Amino acid sequence: MRYYLFDSRACLAAVVFVALVCHSNLSDAQSVDDRSDRTIVNVDVYYESLCSDSMRWTVNQFLPSYPELKNNLDVTFIPYGKATHARENETGPWQFLCQHGPAECRGNKAQACAIHAIRTSEAAQDHQQLTVKLVGCAMSARNPSIAVPQCAQENGLKEETRKLIDDCIASPFGDDLLAANGDKTHNLQPPLKFVPTIVLNKVHSKENQDAAINNFPKLICQHLTKQEKPDLCSSVE
Ligand SMILES: *[C@@H]1O[C@H](CO)[C@@H](O)[C@H](O)[C@H]1NC(C)=O
Repeated sequence: MRYYLFDSRACLAAVVFVALVCHSNLSDAQSVDDRSDRTIVNVDVYYESLCSDSMRWTVNQFLPSYPELKNNLDVTFIPYGKATHARENETGPWQFLCQHGPAECRGNKAQACAIHAIRTSEAAQDHQQLTVKLVGCAMSARNPSIAVPQCAQENGLKEETRKLIDDCIASPFGDDLLAANGDKTHNLQPPLKFVPTIVLNKVHSKENQDAAINNFPKLICQHLTKQEKPDLCSSVE
């Protein structure tokens, strides 16, 4: 059931489930329509809050190229990484074990909460931009595991969104979000080996992964038509 929060097709199929989420997906479909002549490269980022490779990739590869590439990107961040989750029974609390310890789990949960809160209460056309700002801010912070509330404030999230984030961080709902990220991460084929893992257009391959880690803008530029390529592409290709 939890997985539905993240899969728009399943979301539409589950007609009775969380009208809000489905509503925001319809709004997204609308805005995709407006740019139907454009190539949109789908990028899924599997990462974890205290992983230095995740911080480096975000700061060195993703953030510098995002402003030029954003109109051609559909980005999803999945904080969880090399973790495990389990619970004693259907109603018991989720227990997480993270590669870099409990602080990393808290950071992953906070970012999962922020990503969900933005989708829930900010305007659809702002979802991606605000999510990138929030995740970018947290992963650039000295301590990404505790950075989310301040990043939410600094990046102008609405008061309502910030309250949703704070409540989520303190609640089992945030654990459910993180567990759903875990299910998505564990479902990767081939299984996740490296963090961050970058999946392009739903294809998880060594080629995409290596290219995304070494030169993310170049990889994206290779997927765009000549007319679509931003100036950045001429300097990376
Ligand atoms: C489920 O597990 C929790 C502890 O994780 C326990 O407190 C609770 O009683 C258990 N419920 C059932 C129905 O076994």
